[in-house]
Amino acid sequence: MLRTHTCGELRKEHAGQIVTLCGWADHQRDQGGLSFLWLRDRYGITQITFSPDSGNSPEEAEALLAAARKLRQEFVVQITGEVLQRPEGGENKALATGDIEIRPLSLVVLNSSDVPPVQPSIPDLPSEDVRLQYRYLDLRRPAMQKALTLRHRMIKIMRDYTDELGFLEVETPVLGRSTPEGARDYLVPSRVHAGKFYALPQSPQLYKQLLMIAGFDRYVQVARCFRDEDLRADRQPEFTQLDMEMSFVTMEDIISIMDGLIARLAKEILGLELTLPLPRMSYADAMERFGHDAPDLRFGMEIVDLTELAKECEFRVFRATADAGGRVRAIVAKGAADGFSRKRIDELTSWAQENFGVKGLAWFKGVEGSFQSPIAKNFDEALLQRFRTRLAADDGDIVFIVADTFETSCRALNGLRRRLGKELQLYDENAFHFSWIVDFPMLEFDDEEQRWVAVHHPFTSPLPEDAPLLDTDPRACRAAAYDIVINGFEAGGGSIRIHDNALQQKIFNLLGIDETTAKERFGFLLDALRFGAPPHGGIALGIDRLAMIFAGLDSIRDVIAFPKTARATDLLTGAPGEVDDKQMRELSIKVDK
Ligand code: AMO
Ligand code: AMP
Repeated sequence: MLRTHTCGELRKEHAGQIVTLCGWADHQRDQGGLSFLWLRDRYGITQITFSPDSGNSPEEAEALLAAARKLRQEFVVQITGEVLQRPEGGENKALATGDIEIRPLSLVVLNSSDVPPVQPSIPDLPSEDVRLQYRYLDLRRPAMQKALTLRHRMIKIMRDYTDELGFLEVETPVLGRSTPEGARDYLVPSRVHAGKFYALPQSPQLYKQLLMIAGFDRYVQVARCFRDEDLRADRQPEFTQLDMEMSFVTMEDIISIMDGLIARLAKEILGLELTLPLPRMSYADAMERFGHDAPDLRFGMEIVDLTELAKECEFRVFRATADAGGRVRAIVAKGAADGFSRKRIDELTSWAQENFGVKGLAWFKGVEGSFQSPIAKNFDEALLQRFRTRLAADDGDIVFIVADTFETSCRALNGLRRRLGKELQLYDENAFHFSWIVDFPMLEFDDEEQRWVAVHHPFTSPLPEDAPLLDTDPRACRAAAYDIVINGFEAGGGSIRIHDNALQQKIFNLLGIDETTAKERFGFLLDALRFGAPPHGGIALGIDRLAMIFAGLDSIRDVIAFPKTARATDLLTGAPGEVDDKQMRELSIKVDK
């Protein structure tokens, strides 16, 4: 090897040893006749001190100093030298190797570097576009190396844990048939079968069910998934799941196995001792109290329903909404009234209108035992007092109220709650909250498409006690599905599957997937269900999301080595790119520009 140690390894116990290090010239500082070089690799930074004492003679010292001064940022350097303990008071506490420095005996430039557009040693970052274009430089930054190391450790823990429990890792195809997880497919044209396409898997859902039917009763895979959907900070077009499936289990078994995994991750990665079982909340509760199925439970600020009171008031907007079957709901920002000038409220109102489609945002400030607001004149004092009591609002509080459909009020108040929670610092940024959301509805009605759609996916089983509702009141039927939610993110989700052919057909019917389509798209699954399919269920954790949350980062891109932009492009390689005419002819494809 070209080195004896890494740049993060040497301590005062090594003093006196002759070592060889390799790394990048991180930065350099000249002082009098001395030159200090910080040599960096994945493991850390070691200081090389060029001085008149370097080398074996004054001539060598001078030559080494001259060579050091020719180094530029990100040159690749091999240094052999003696480990010296730094004099007392001269230690650098910021470096793990800060107790020592290297007295160089030789310096070899292994490679030079152009001026790097992303400088790993500088905390100020260029734009994310530049970082992504020169990702290999960006990845040299210690923060990125830390994030990818953490991701590796998480996957290692996942593999160890599932291996200990007898799970078998089985790879499933990437070129396959479309699996409906609710997003658009990425398609790959077939050359051999002109006009036909493979779909990249949105998840290995159907394959893992087939593996259960094949008798592999505990399956796991670190699986790449592909979804062509609108991207956000926590979504990528290709991402990685810890995908699992089990036979002969109940929902409780799956949740408890996952509790164990989450607890181990929390302990080993975050040093947190979780109390198991993790808390649970029903979907209905989550929507009612927080307006979202992945609520951030690090803080309170629960939604308060005012619909009944609104029916008694004269304020047209509230009254009309309540009477028409809509909802009037609010959140209270305790003690925050002074921080909300008219200007800030107006800004918040436009933001809510643009992002959540609310018609307006009403507000009350608690003042002198009553409420102050431009709309207060529409309420008599007695009613204002009842609002205050219902909201548990005090002087100095500000209340934001949305009158709209249940869905819109959920969207808006969830958005507002998350924003205010952050802005008003209602939670500790380093805190973690884990919980399960259960009792999801099986189906929801898609107004645009005028049909039922599966809330999880079409292979999810109803809760046994709710199955009869499929015939009478599909909206009320709950699924045997569960999501794990961390700090307001859906980190994973799964369900017990349908293992009965007739029930599966019935769900397809409800979803408006006719028999021909079902046969064509999922015929293989329906067939397989006829050959002794065991009861089974599973879950998938979003590894990128989990890593992002555990690393305390805001963007999933920061835990992916080579991510795509919000427009699904790879700025490093330029993908997606054009292909030449010959390739297109072979694929029998003509592009209509
Ligand atoms: P689901 O669609 O809920 O379930 O996905 C499971 C988890 O994967 C993560 N995830 C994503 N991460 C990054 N970018 C994306 N575009 C993205 N989409 C999803 C989330 C999510 O919770 N087959 C089922 C699982 C099952 O039923 O076993 C499935 O894929 O963290
Ligand atoms: P308007 O009567 O439409 O002028 O609205 C008076 C106040 O009520 C304004 O502050 C609006 O922002 C607010 N408002 C209007 N519509 C709604 C609504 N649907 N929900 C909550 N507040 C609203």
